Amino acid sequence: MTEDRLASASLAEQLRRFEAAADADPTAIRIARGPGRVNLIGEHTDYNEGFVLPAAIGLEIRVAFVPTADRRVEVTLLETGERGGFSLDDIPPASGRWIDYVAGTAWALQEAGLPLHGLRGILASTLPRSSGLSSSAALELASAWALLEPPDLAAHGIDRMALARLCQRAENEHVGVRCGLMDQFASSLGQHGRAMLLDCRSLEYRPVELPTADHVLVVCDTNVPRRLEASEYNTRRDQCEAAAAAIADAEPGVRSLRDVDPAMLARHADRLAPELRMRAEHIVGENDRVLRTIDALATGTLPAVGELFAASHASLRDRFEVSSPELDAMVEIATAVPGVVAARMTGAGFGGCTVNLVRRDAVDALREAVERDYPARTGRTPRVLAVEAADGAGILDGAGPG
Ligand code: GLA
Repeated sequence: MTEDRLASASLAEQLRRFEAAADADPTAIRIARGPGRVNLIGEHTDYNEGFVLPAAIGLEIRVAFVPTADRRVEVTLLETGERGGFSLDDIPPASGRWIDYVAGTAWALQEAGLPLHGLRGILASTLPRSSGLSSSAALELASAWALLEPPDLAAHGIDRMALARLCQRAENEHVGVRCGLMDQFASSLGQHGRAMLLDCRSLEYRPVELPTADHVLVVCDTNVPRRLEASEYNTRRDQCEAAAAAIADAEPGVRSLRDVDPAMLARHADRLAPELRMRAEHIVGENDRVLRTIDALATGTLPAVGELFAASHASLRDRFEVSSPELDAMVEIATAVPGVVAARMTGAGFGGCTVNLVRRDAVDALREAVERDYPARTGRTPRVLAVEAADGAGILDGAGPG
């Protein structure tokens, strides 16, 4: 039995212990999974209708469950035994707990007219919470797949993109975080071994090959809780919208910063307060860096990928002001290790993780350098995780017992 099937089988076994309905009929047990994501490049560009290049990763949330006919959703966290639940006919408002993401997803799917069932489930996660690897999107996508009856998108006339957008709606309107589409997109549409390029305006996307024969993605967790994130995130969004509006006064074709190129930004710089100008410079430069990263990966020009990651990090630090001393230290430590091709902060910022493209034979050296130097520089204990790009969310095939 593979390690993966072993994990699924034992999650199903745990469910039988918690839920009589599952024990009575183990053949009814299903397992839904939603992966986390790491963003290679294109940070804070999604809500500016720009480009992003995330990959779903092997760290994920799994929900083993049995469907029920009673319209009640009851989920137990494997790690703590904590329970959460609600009725599909009376979805409660957000309460600041993890169950909000399940309830919000149920709300958004029902708003779209999709048929759902109740369930009794148990939730296990290999995804560190609040580390900027999108445990929220992972939970939304796992919940969507667990709740849908039948769990077959074609039967409902929707696709993986539509499901991602419904999960984003859950987070925007039920949980109250004004995130863009990147995280739900990656968790829903990820492909094994590849990153995914998304045009957040047209919603066109395509897989991008990664140099996985010799290289691996490594996530370094700063282990800093992302305190200011929600309010600062919304402030950045407002600033980007204000910058686009100020430029649109002179350039009527501008709907968002996506429509602004460096020359246009330079022409209208005096319309923008210094802070708004810096924010706009980051977005305009970052969109360009995503497209250049695609080209560099296509031609195997990895030193160029390294330069683009470095420029992205510097821009997020100096112009968008969402990095942190810990993220900066992590990138500096990694960059000094031979075989680390590219390093930058990933996700919203204010803590969380860095993403690194690393030669497979250099992963141990990176781990040693981070474990030695990062605590000395920050007083914190880091985590170094090699991750493979993974397939998007769904129901595991035949993973349950029986
Ligand atoms: C968070 C949001 C995403 C995106 C990133 C920054 O992860 O959920 O939509 O805006 O921050 O790139």
